[in-house]
Amino acid sequence: MSYRITINPSNHVFNAETGETVLQAALREGFSLPYGCRNGACGTCKGKIIQGKVDFGRHDGDTLTEVEKQAGMALFCCALPLSELVIECHEIGAIKDIKVRKLPCRVQKMERVASDVMIISLRIPTNERLQFLAGQYIDILMKDGEHRSFSLANAPHDDDLLQLHVRNYPGGVFAEHTFSCMKERDILRFEGPLGTFILHEDSDKPIIFVASGTGFAPVKSILEHAFHVAEIRGNDRQMVLYWGVRTKAELYLVDLAGSWQQEHDNFSFIPVLSKALPTDAWQGRIGLVHQSVLQDFDSLSGYQVYACGAPVMVEAARKDFINLRGLPEDEFFSDSFTASSSESKL
Ligand code: FES
Repeated sequence: MSYRITINPSNHVFNAETGETVLQAALREGFSLPYGCRNGACGTCKGKIIQGKVDFGRHDGDTLTEVEKQAGMALFCCALPLSELVIECHEIGAIKDIKVRKLPCRVQKMERVASDVMIISLRIPTNERLQFLAGQYIDILMKDGEHRSFSLANAPHDDDLLQLHVRNYPGGVFAEHTFSCMKERDILRFEGPLGTFILHEDSDKPIIFVASGTGFAPVKSILEHAFHVAEIRGNDRQMVLYWGVRTKAELYLVDLAGSWQQEHDNFSFIPVLSKALPTDAWQGRIGLVHQSVLQDFDSLSGYQVYACGAPVMVEAARKDFINLRGLPEDEFFSDSFTASSSESKL
């Protein structure tokens, strides 16, 4: 059995399946209602039931009082619909709506996916959840007061673990720590979510993603979010990913990117090697990744471009796409991290 839920004032509509809370159903269908803990303790998801009935679910009595229930308030992370509903709440539509938080986390899993790339999966305390938009990053807080920025590589709907792609390079303080002494179960602290490198969902222009190295991480988050939303609401926005690395071994999640291409007609994947080895026996594209885009498109006037990776690549892409291919300046989106604080993009 499913119940139809209408959000006021946006008039967005979604369906909750049996046993799903209002929040679970909204997130599954790609609507960002505000939340924090997702277990009835923080009150972030509190909103009003304008019409219909809910089972209020298990929650903290101080977080939602009897008086509030009488007034029609509910915690959407706990409330189970018992009828069709009209609810009132403010949807997260922009970064300013999301609270930046400092949280501890535990290193749950470490996977060395290339000689110089480690994927680390972080678990935050069970009574906490991190709300973020696809493409945002977190700052790992170091003991010396410094921080290092890493993009979240998982999509917001898939947030059991937070995934970071860490590339090792000389002088990368956190990266060297990751590769030399970090172990599973270590505790870290971070602040986030941060950043404005997010998908602009109000446009239907085709998208070109350009990533170099571990700049793939936020693009992965954005693409997995876009595929998830498209599955539910339908969307045929064309998307292509150019992923540039030096050698074949550095395409550390190439099978995943290849599987997206097989599963989604509106997506294509073009890996580009800049220093292919003879042993790579590479038949694909070669050269600088942004130059592959220039070769393939005479005009970018009708596109959006999302670029993430080494600052030199991002800058070259910005300049050449705008000056040589007519990309509107306000349709170029990128991370603007500096080398000293961002290790994931280098
Ligand atoms: S998200 Fe914390 S109470 Fe619902």
